[in-house]
Amino acid sequence: MRSVDIYFVLICAVCVVFSHTIPGLNSLQRQILSKKRSRSRQKGRSDDLTQDIFLNLPAREIDFINLHLKNLTDANGSKCDKCKYKIRYAKSLVEEYPEQEHLVTLLLFKDCVNNAYYADSCYYENFFITTKSQNFEAFNDDYDAGITSGTSVNFFDNDFLHLLKNFNVSSDLDLEYYCYFKDHRACSLPKTPDIEQLFDIQSWWPEKKPEHYHQPVYKNNSERFNVIHVTDFHIQPRYELGAESNCTEVPCALPESYNKKLPGKDYNFTTYYKNLDPTIETFNFSFYPDARYTENDTYIKGDYYDFPKYRGYNFNNAPATSFGAYLSDAPELLMNNSLIEIAKLQAEKKFELVLFTGDMVDHDGVHCTPNITKDAEVTAFKLVKKYLNNIPIMPALGNHDSFPYAQVAPNKFDRNNSYDYNIEDMVNLWINNEWFEGKDANDLKKHYTGFSYVTNRGLKIIALNSNAYYGDNLWAYIDQTTDGDLFGNWKFLVDELLESEEKGQRVWIMAHIPPNNYDVLPIQSRIFGTIIERFAPYTVANMFFGHTHRDQFSILYSSNTTAADAVAEDVLSMSWVAQSVTPYTKFNPSFKWYEVENESFNIINAYNYYTQLNITFNNGGEEPKWEVEYSARDLYDPEHTWPEDAPLNGTFWHNYVAKPMWNTSDIAFNQKFMDYKYRLSPLTPNCTTDKGKLNNVCFNDNNCFLNFYSDSNINCQKS
Ligand SMILES: *[C@@H]1O[C@H](CO)[C@@H](O)[C@H](O)[C@H]1NC(C)=O
Ligand SMILES: *[C@@H]1O[C@H](CO)[C@@H](O)[C@H](O)[C@H]1NC(C)=O
Ligand SMILES: *[C@@H]1O[C@H](CO)[C@@H](O)[C@H](O)[C@H]1NC(C)=O
Ligand SMILES: *[C@@H]1O[C@H](CO)[C@@H](O)[C@H](O)[C@H]1NC(C)=O
Ligand SMILES: *[C@@H]1O[C@H](CO)[C@@H](O)[C@H](O)[C@H]1NC(C)=O
Ligand SMILES: *[C@@H]1O[C@H](CO)[C@@H](O)[C@H](O)[C@H]1NC(C)=O
Ligand SMILES: *[C@@H]1O[C@H](CO)[C@@H](O)[C@H](O)[C@H]1NC(C)=O
Ligand SMILES: *[C@@H]1O[C@H](CO)[C@@H](O)[C@H](O)[C@H]1NC(C)=O
Ligand SMILES: *[C@@H]1O[C@H](CO)[C@@H](O)[C@H](O)[C@H]1NC(C)=O
Ligand SMILES: *[C@@H]1O[C@H](CO)[C@@H](O)[C@H](O)[C@H]1NC(C)=O
Ligand SMILES: *[C@@H]1O[C@H](CO)[C@@H](O)[C@H](O)[C@H]1NC(C)=O
Ligand SMILES: *[C@@H]1O[C@H](CO)[C@@H](O)[C@H](O)[C@H]1NC(C)=O
Repeated sequence: MRSVDIYFVLICAVCVVFSHTIPGLNSLQRQILSKKRSRSRQKGRSDDLTQDIFLNLPAREIDFINLHLKNLTDANGSKCDKCKYKIRYAKSLVEEYPEQEHLVTLLLFKDCVNNAYYADSCYYENFFITTKSQNFEAFNDDYDAGITSGTSVNFFDNDFLHLLKNFNVSSDLDLEYYCYFKDHRACSLPKTPDIEQLFDIQSWWPEKKPEHYHQPVYKNNSERFNVIHVTDFHIQPRYELGAESNCTEVPCALPESYNKKLPGKDYNFTTYYKNLDPTIETFNFSFYPDARYTENDTYIKGDYYDFPKYRGYNFNNAPATSFGAYLSDAPELLMNNSLIEIAKLQAEKKFELVLFTGDMVDHDGVHCTPNITKDAEVTAFKLVKKYLNNIPIMPALGNHDSFPYAQVAPNKFDRNNSYDYNIEDMVNLWINNEWFEGKDANDLKKHYTGFSYVTNRGLKIIALNSNAYYGDNLWAYIDQTTDGDLFGNWKFLVDELLESEEKGQRVWIMAHIPPNNYDVLPIQSRIFGTIIERFAPYTVANMFFGHTHRDQFSILYSSNTTAADAVAEDVLSMSWVAQSVTPYTKFNPSFKWYEVENESFNIINAYNYYTQLNITFNNGGEEPKWEVEYSARDLYDPEHTWPEDAPLNGTFWHNYVAKPMWNTSDIAFNQKFMDYKYRLSPLTPNCTTDKGKLNNVCFNDNNCFLNFYSDSNINCQKS
């Protein structure tokens, strides 16, 4: 049944890839409508898409909701107290009135919309309210869609209800983590408890031996090979040519995108493009609705569509062009183009391995459906298979690669089979693509698509599903202070590392979300780092992540030293955080490759490959041109003082990048790092304040991010 399903979507993916339609509705009209909507939205409740569901409920149920909503509204105390009270109260309601459980989530959603500073997050983060004039009957076996209106509003409260039912409301710490991450920082970030005391971590493994404080000695280390690291495609299926690409609510270039500052009568949209490049004199816009790649990868741009002729120069702020926009995700055309580019580079660089650290689905959360999720995943993996046919692909799923967004349930919970579909589909697809063998299926499923894979050269790659430690995954809040390994991922990782340590085998670890990001649960982040501290540098050679869309890295320092205080002797390990293909937001599309030493599997150099998206806005619909952006050695060690055969390990990054970055009076260095982080995009943030100091945007994003632990990163941020 399942594989038939995949096959079906595969066939259809082809038509999606190659079709573009001329937008039917006048964008200016849409912008006016949207603007009206946004005005009323600012006043409050009309934003509540569930209003129709609510009004159609029987009077008794409406009363139930109103009564308890009032109780929550009337609750006393600080924002933090109110949030904790809400969870305790909701849990007691669900226990008392189990047959009314969907009313409880609906009233919590209403409470969220009434109070939230940013109402949109109520939709995407907890209750997964999506709109689409289609119901999900076809998925009834797989989903517990609490309330569906049959016409347009879908309410996925399955995860939230499981969270409530399993929440340990006597743990203040669990509540505070929830209220910090999931309720708009209603509570401040609690001090991270000592994980040694909580979980007796040292008992998870035998003591570290003296010889494991260094990497193994290698004699025959001269041969090198290349590995490519690609991440964060985020295919935007509803990307629309001519739609607003400088919009107010990202992602842009959707049919309904609008800019709050509507262009006036005298506005000329060439202004937007001139702002990006003042030297532009002539315009040759890339408005090619039929632009596509044929089966044999020939690019056909098709006919020009004359927006100015039909709509004038003021129908929106910046009409979207063929290959993508800085505030939108990747149109299929860009996705195709980047893979063709990778395939060309492959001919020269002979990559032996592809690290693909996830996120195929776009940021259009409110229109997301199970089908769109699956479609993006299938399309991305299909193209990866097509263009990199014979190279082993190491795939990882990102936070967007599940429906509802970021949700993965621990195996040990009864979850009404809600989520297995995604993991099962992906595992079957990877096996069909010959990236794994049939016998691997059970292990892949057990580890939520995580795996351990040994390459022909003897390198072990361990991949994890990072939703297990992600703050957006509701399930990760259950028992987080009493069970350090709710998902069993850490035991899996430690067992694999012990096995490799025994053999002197080196390991790369990969996952989508870097453990230091501000959205990672701190206890989990600390556990991750403690495991690496135990197994690096002898066994763990490198770590690879994506997720931030930025070109970044972080350093693990020993015994709790923060990046601000660290010296070179504290360096234990590092993670590579690779930049995205999607331009979302403000980036040039890009990917990385590594020159790797045989045997030690250290990285000797790293290269960035990128394209300047802004050239494609205005080049008559021609394909993007890709080029080498930099070699890490040449960029950060131009004098070549780091020994030629020494790896680009944490010590290199500490000495050549982290140290000068922490000299916060050296704004030029900070700006340089930022420029490359954004791949020289014209929208790269400026690091200088009006008073000539380093601004907080750059300080937070450059300096704080160097910390390996999410709590250190968060506590370092200046607002
Ligand atoms: C509402 O809140 C008050 C104060 O916490 C509580 O005593 C009361 O029982 C609640 N009402 C209902 C209907 O649960
Ligand atoms: C809030 O405080 C008032 C006055 O102290 C009290 O009457 C009321 O019951 C309290 N409400 C809740 C929900 O605790
Ligand atoms: C719930 O939290 C309390 C307070 O932290 C703790 O003592 C208790 O063991 C926890 N219960 C479970 C079942 O984990
Ligand atoms: C390291 O920091 C964590 C979090 O602040 C704390 O719980 C732990 O006790 C610290 N460990 C040491 C050895 O200082
Ligand atoms: C060194 O490594 C290469 C490539 O793996 C291998 O062909 C060669 O036999 C090795 N030489 C020694 C002395 O081990
Ligand atoms: C808008 O600007 C372009 C380029 O400068 C120019 O060709 C065009 O005539 C202008 N249109 C209007 C209506 O001002
Ligand atoms: C995009 O639109 C905003 C107004 O919403 C404007 O301030 C900004 O300058 C525009 N961007 C460019 C590059 O013109
Ligand atoms: C590829 O396809 C295009 C259009 O279908 C055709 O014009 C072209 O000759 C083909 N090229 C090759 C190399 O087969
Ligand atoms: C899923 O998407 C495909 C391709 O976009 C479409 O043909 C199919 O009808 C969709 N299935 C459902 C159940 O919506
Ligand atoms: C990084 O490599 C240098 C040069 O080989 C070495 O001195 C240093 O100890 C290494 N750092 C780590 C953390 O392994
Ligand atoms: C693209 O942006 C870069 C960086 O700001 C700039 O140097 C270049 O001139 C721009 N090119 C075009 C065609 O806009
Ligand atoms: C960055 O901002 C500073 C302070 O406002 C300004 O002096 C400088 O010109 C700006 N740099 C760029 C490249 O815009």
